[in-house]
Amino acid sequence: MKIDVLLGLQWGDEGKGKITDVLTPSYDIIARFQGGPNAGHTLEFNGMKHVLHTIPSGIFHPGKINVIGNGVVIDAYIFARELQKLRERGAKPELNLLISKRAHLILPTHRLIDIVEEASKGKSKIGSTLKGIGPTYTDKTGRHGLRIGDTQYPGFRDKYEALKKQHMRIIESFNPDPSMLMIENMPLEEYERHWFESIEYISDIKLIDSEIFINKSMREGKKILAEGAQGTLLDVDFGTYPYVTSSSTISAGVCSGLGISPHNVGRVFGVFKAYCTRVGGGPFPTELFDETGDRLRKLGHEFGSTTGRPRRCGWLDLPALKYSVMLNGVTDLVMMKVDVLDGFETFSIGVGYKIGQEILDFPGYDTLNQEIEPVLEHFPGWHTPVTGCTSWEELPENLRSFTTALGEKLELPVSVISVGPNRSQTIILDSSNLK
Ligand code: GDP
Ligand code: IMO
Ligand code: MG
Repeated sequence: MKIDVLLGLQWGDEGKGKITDVLTPSYDIIARFQGGPNAGHTLEFNGMKHVLHTIPSGIFHPGKINVIGNGVVIDAYIFARELQKLRERGAKPELNLLISKRAHLILPTHRLIDIVEEASKGKSKIGSTLKGIGPTYTDKTGRHGLRIGDTQYPGFRDKYEALKKQHMRIIESFNPDPSMLMIENMPLEEYERHWFESIEYISDIKLIDSEIFINKSMREGKKILAEGAQGTLLDVDFGTYPYVTSSSTISAGVCSGLGISPHNVGRVFGVFKAYCTRVGGGPFPTELFDETGDRLRKLGHEFGSTTGRPRRCGWLDLPALKYSVMLNGVTDLVMMKVDVLDGFETFSIGVGYKIGQEILDFPGYDTLNQEIEPVLEHFPGWHTPVTGCTSWEELPENLRSFTTALGEKLELPVSVISVGPNRSQTIILDSSNLK
């Protein structure tokens, strides 16, 4: 049985958490393969809203195993708080959550390095979530990181102190104002104390060789869904570099992030919003700076799930979406938040990038850093709310023709349409409907 993958096709926050939760009943195992607590995946069901950061979005389904893969980075403190919140909501993560021993640890000082590096960038700052993601992956590839498996061996504290010492040298080289050096509103020593207590708190979650577990489960015929974080346009290789995250967010990242062969990747669910958002800095060709952008932000509640920051909003960017479909080998398109477009007289999508006299239809090496005028195509809106629709037939005609047109442009029909944040507000289409 091959592993299916679910990931974001834009700049994150596409609704991956919701769709993973919706698809979980069809799987035995849900596994996160990259990223860390920079992610915020929102689930809504039974009148409850829950945001997950490090833990896979299948966790509320008892009996389904959730795995934090080796490609993920973990902050013990944030992770412990996540576990606590899950327990308050009746979940029993000690029964259905496993962690790869190889997952790297985000140390308190990684977070401080993130803070001082971002501050030093001034206007060209990335807009990082400041969770220590970049510095942790840097240490991983620099070969001096600490892994969660290390916590089980004697000498962990010594290794920690040695790495902290190196980190302090880096931090001091920025000559930071001491008031900057706060983590979750705590000075380093206090946060560090909580971090070590958290290592104790999380010790009832089993650490495993997850690559062995995943491959064995596959051989036994178990169905596995790999859940991505961030989005393709934030990928460290193919995103809008340097305004990206530090991991491989595309389907290729599943192989190294879980330890599986490319032969074993099955379906790839590509999740995208019917418009576009981005948090933090970096290019965004179809961004709207007017009241239409404000309207999308307000109706779509476009405020970060992790940081609460307002998300930048704009029209769907088709060239970028096509690029993402290509990079990931998407087999199933999942279109989210169409309800946010309810009531728009007309709406648009970007179909090309006009740079001078030239029109490009893909984001090349330097394309998005240039002065771009997006080429827009307009579509008529619909006037009936779609949040209560449960089938393709119930959807307004204009939404159906937009969906069909988009499928044709992407050379892949849309397979799932989400009409609201709730688990139940999801229409799984038979792709033959769209022909
Ligand atoms: P993720 O990071 O990809 O899991 O996405 P986030 O959870 O950060 O952001 C998606 C937001 O949109 C969350 O607040 C969801 O509850 C919400 N959401 C998901 N699907 C829909 C939808 O179809 N319609 C609306 N209105 N909201 C949705
Ligand atoms: P989910 O999984 C949206 C963005 C940050 C910043 C850049 C680098 O919820 O979709 P980092 O903290 O990785 O150093 O930030 O990436 N970013 C996200 N934007 N959704 C996310 O995750 C993101 N994770 C990171 O805003 O621009
Ligand atoms: Mg999110």
